[in-house]
Amino acid sequence: MGLNVFVLTGAGVSAESGLGTFRDEGGVWTQYDLAEVATPEGFARDPAKVRAFYNARRENLAGAAPNPAHVALARLQRELAARGGGLFLCTQNVDDLHEKAGSTEVVHIHGELAVTRCHACEATRSDTGPLDGEAICEACGAAGMARPHVVWFGEMTLFLDEITDALHAADLFVAIGTSGSVYPAAGFVSEARALGVRTCELNLEPSDNAWAFDESFYGPAGEVVPAWVERVLGEGLRS
Ligand code: APR
Repeated sequence: MGLNVFVLTGAGVSAESGLGTFRDEGGVWTQYDLAEVATPEGFARDPAKVRAFYNARRENLAGAAPNPAHVALARLQRELAARGGGLFLCTQNVDDLHEKAGSTEVVHIHGELAVTRCHACEATRSDTGPLDGEAICEACGAAGMARPHVVWFGEMTLFLDEITDALHAADLFVAIGTSGSVYPAAGFVSEARALGVRTCELNLEPSDNAWAFDESFYGPAGEVVPAWVERVLGEGLRS
């Protein structure tokens, strides 16, 4: 029976790819008021401001490439599957760098930036271009309802049932590049501990829920993650 690993990633795994984190110095939420650009109320108040915020992030994403952390996680997924186990890769990130690195079945619990959704009927379509405020929804005919398929504050996190199932099946829970400050994702480590699952944190510095992890390795994800993957594949859970 192979090893089943649950990995939760956050903005820190994409930091070395040039995509900003949210709460570090100079982070996205130090430059923008999240209430204005990442809530349904903000969208109702000023949809053009919200679309401009996400259009700028789509432009950043177009020029971003996976870093060694993304590549190492794609390798881990392949190797665990080859040994009869599996990797459940759950990300808070709305970028597509895990996929660009070769990861498959990535679970985007906060949605995806490169997907446009109708705010009226929730129909979605892949889209890397600018969000168009004049667009007519092809599914329901609503006008001016184009938004990013991104979970805003106050909206439901996606795939919670799949996450519960994956936590029950996991031998190891690993959080990578996340501050552990936004729930329900920040609570997954406690759910894992309650199930008797070993927990590990790979981060630049101790997160808000660092206390909850059995072991931790600190440093840039581009260095720490490949080294950790090498160890897990070489030594298994004894690591
Ligand atoms: N390598 C590893 N970790 C890093 C790096 C790096 N190069 N750079 C920063 N970090 C760490 C920071 O120390 C911090 O703990 O990544 C974490 C980033 O935390 P946040 O900016 O809070 O991002 P995240 O945890 O993903 O935010 C969660 O909040 O705003 C919402 O929906 C948004 O998904 C996001 C959620």
